[in-house]
Amino acid sequence: MVTVLTGTGLAAEVAAIRQTSTSMQDFRTGVHRIGIHLAVEASKHLPGRSTTVQTPLAPAEATMVDGDVILLPVLRAGLGLLDAFLQVMPYASVGFAGLRRNEETLEPTEYYRRFPDSTSNTTFIIIDPMLATAGSMIATLSMLKDLPHRSIMAACLIAAPEGVEALTAAHPDVPLFIASLDDHLNEMGFIVPGLGDAGDRLFGTT
Ligand code: PRP
Repeated sequence: MVTVLTGTGLAAEVAAIRQTSTSMQDFRTGVHRIGIHLAVEASKHLPGRSTTVQTPLAPAEATMVDGDVILLPVLRAGLGLLDAFLQVMPYASVGFAGLRRNEETLEPTEYYRRFPDSTSNTTFIIIDPMLATAGSMIATLSMLKDLPHRSIMAACLIAAPEGVEALTAAHPDVPLFIASLDDHLNEMGFIVPGLGDAGDRLFGTT
């Protein structure tokens, strides 16, 4: 259920945002462009239904997205991917999960939650640039457990193997799309080689 996106164009974008010398402005636009790749990939896996549309010439067999989509950016860094996903899925509603990882225990603490109403035909897509221990992703998934839904997907820019393993062990049924599978997590819980702290680099904090 884990898809690592491939392609030279995407790889070059990932290389650019990794670099320390990349400015906040270029980091933000790079994350946005990688978000487009992730959103297009996720859009391929949305539930579809067959229908017919009328062109100026003839009826055409067509596919529509079945049900509704709720995007869930994990605050803060998930906001960096939100516009890209909305560009690809302009029909989506947006919920917010505010989580902050305690840098000593690496456990996420929730500080905000606001989701649109879902139904048994809703697809949730959780978006967050980083999957390190996967604690934040697993905490977000647990918020959805008792909400009506049809399916859940997750999209991250960079993941550590340790996080992928933890996520797939806890939620083997949740497809995960990532732009890069990195080498490992260090003792501080940072992805190596990674790109540093995505939230800080997106929003100018240190
Ligand atoms: C970072 C990142 C993820 C999380 C990943 O956010 O954006 O949400 O940590 O780590 P995990 O997989 O070990 O849970 P952080 O908590 O630093 O908050 P921020 O987005 O406000 O920077």
